[in-house]
Formats: sequence, C-alpha cells, structure tokens
Amino acid sequence: MTRSPITRPITLSNCALLSAHGGVRLERGCWRGQDVFVKALVGGDAEFRLRFHHEGRVVRRLSHPALVPLLTHTQDQLVFPFVQGCSLRELLDTRRLSAAEAVSVTLGVLSAACAFHRQGVTHHDLKPENVMLLGGRACAESVRVTDFGMACDRTLPDGLHAGTRMGTPQFMAPEQFNGVRGDTRSDLYAVAGLLFDCLAGEPPHPDALGWLVGLSSECLPLPGPAALHPLLESALQRDPDKRPQSAEQMAKQLREAWQHALMGERSVRNTQA
Ligand SMILES: Nc1ncnc2c1ncn2[C@@H]1O[C@H](COP(=O)(O)OP(=O)(O)O)[C@@H](O)[C@H]1O
Ligand SMILES: [Mg+2]
Repeated sequence: MTRSPITRPITLSNCALLSAHGGVRLERGCWRGQDVFVKALVGGDAEFRLRFHHEGRVVRRLSHPALVPLLTHTQDQLVFPFVQGCSLRELLDTRRLSAAEAVSVTLGVLSAACAFHRQGVTHHDLKPENVMLLGGRACAESVRVTDFGMACDRTLPDGLHAGTRMGTPQFMAPEQFNGVRGDTRSDLYAVAGLLFDCLAGEPPHPDALGWLVGLSSECLPLPGPAALHPLLESALQRDPDKRPQSAEQMAKQLREAWQHALMGERSVRNTQA
C-alpha cells in the first residue's frame, strides 16, 4: 500500500460512476488489481477544493481496522479500497437492528473513534451514512468508518471550518452547532444518536434543528432494553461535561449496560420457566 501522492491523475479500469454531487464524483473501478472507491474533485470553488484536500490530509495519517484507509491520492482524487457491503443507513432503510446488532455496530464505531481521537482527530459527521458495513453484516468487526470531510485534526490548521455549522442536524451535538470544533465529546453525542437510530429506526429528535436552537425539547422515547437507557440519556446531553468523557469510557459503559441487559433477560426467562 502506498500513501505517497501521485501527481498524474489515476486511471481506473472498469470505472463506474456511483454518484456526482456538489463538485465531487464518487466512482468505483479497478486500480492496480484492486477494487477501489474514488472521490474525485470535479469542480467547486477555492474553499471547496481546500476542504477536499483537507479530507485527504486528515485521513492519510489514520490507520485502524475499523477505518477505510486511504490507498493513495492525487491533487483531485482520493482512492480508498471499495468496501463490499452497504452503509449502515442502507441497512437501516431495509430493517431495524436487533439490540445485540445495534450494540455491536456502536462498539465498532467507538473502537474507530478511540483510535482517531487518540490521533487528535474529531470526525464531526458520524452518522449511519458514513459507517460502511463489510458484507452488509451488522457487527463490530464489519464496521468501516468513512468520510473525514468535516473532521478537525489538531495537527493541522483548522481555519477552513472554524465557526461553521457544518454537520448533520440529526446527529450534531449542540456545541458543534454553535461552532465548537475539535471536542471529541461531540462525536460521542453523534454515536449515541446512531445507536438510538439503530434501535428505534429513527434518530432521537423529530425536530433536530429546533432542538439545536433550543426551540424544541421533544425527544422520542428511549428505545431498546432499559439497561441501555442511562447511557443513551447521558451521551445525548446538551452539556458535553455530562456525557461520557471519552470513546473508551463510552465503550466500557456500553459493554457493561449490555451485560446488564442480558442478565435482565436471563432472569426474566428463569422466572418464567
Ligand atoms: N470505501 C467505500 N467503499 C464503498 N462505498 C463507499 C466507500 N466510502 C463511501 N462509500 C459510499 O459512498 C457514500 C458517500 O461517501 P462519503 O465518503 O461519505 O462522501 P460524501 O462526502 O459524499 O458524503 C457513503 O455514504 C457510502 O455509501
Ligand atoms: Mg458522507
């Protein structure tokens, strides 16, 4: 695997256009015998181009089994291995996950978050669309987190996104909405939203923008086993100080809560027997 930039454009064989939007083309093809996914810059203004290059700079120094590695890049192309499977969003569009699957996928996302947070990166756009599932399997081992287009990297200048409200309202922490960059606890809020979505079939706030600006306090009933509710509730707090303080801590709390949920199920079964 090479991560050194290539100056000539990369030519794919069997290239297929997957989609094109806002100055970016997403393509699938074959490069050096490998099935690849390419994000290609085809337009956009100077700021858009800087954001595209920023994504390449962030992702090329990250490495973890639950992340999609950057294989190589040119000025206008980011080349990743093609993940055979589907995004978590595509899976959720077909069915609700079992609680065991939802917890496992969430632990997979948290294992990736532990790694990139340790390397000084806050993702800022964790959501089911940006979680690929290898083979379409809803389990931790299949999780591949993608799309560092909005990420904040402490080792790089962050002027590009400073003060912006970029992100997806349904999964965006209130402080992120207010322009705070680089607080890893914003990602934990998003992960809690993702777990909620996996369990309920929809994210917590029906009027997400209203909730972010403080005009709506409506939250759907907490889904899934009651043992998971305290964690969901704390990780979705407006105040980051009231959330788990790290991805490691959130993963530990989730594992423990899931053990309690399983013990509760067993004791109900024993009582009924
Ligand atoms: N490595 C990959 N292999 C296969 N599909 C991918 C890969 N990375 C992303 N995708 C799919 O393409 C979509 C868009 O990619 P993403 O990196 O999220 O770009 P965007 O900035 O357009 O959101 C994702 O939601 C996912 O469905
Ligand atoms: Mg995306």
